[in-house]
Amino acid sequence: MAEDRWIEVGCLDDIPCRGARKVRMPDGDTVAVFRTADDEIFALIDRCPHKSGPLSEGIVQGRAVACPLHGWVIDLASGEAEAPDVGCTRSVPVRRAGDRIQLAVISAEPAGSLHWEAA
Ligand code: FES
Repeated sequence: MAEDRWIEVGCLDDIPCRGARKVRMPDGDTVAVFRTADDEIFALIDRCPHKSGPLSEGIVQGRAVACPLHGWVIDLASGEAEAPDVGCTRSVPVRRAGDRIQLAVISAEPAGSLHWEAA
């Protein structure tokens, strides 16, 4: 069974407070890595469950992000839309090693190196 590998993508200060940076994953998905006001880090696929809006362009409010297109609020930990809206975007394991940010990649995928997309 494939295990996750942790790949470093950058450091905490690369991400604006209450904002996000994007990473293109080996499978072609774009992941948004969010930073809260308390310097917590979360990662979600950068697609709103409503109509695929870019969550990375939303504003982080507590531990959630408001989609910039129609304002759905998405929980950063679970990827679930806040009621009354219904939907979920996939979360991606992410962790901090000091001020470095690491994303989990399935070991069967050729990861190479991962970096932020241009802002
Ligand atoms: S696409 Fe995100 S709220 Fe509509």
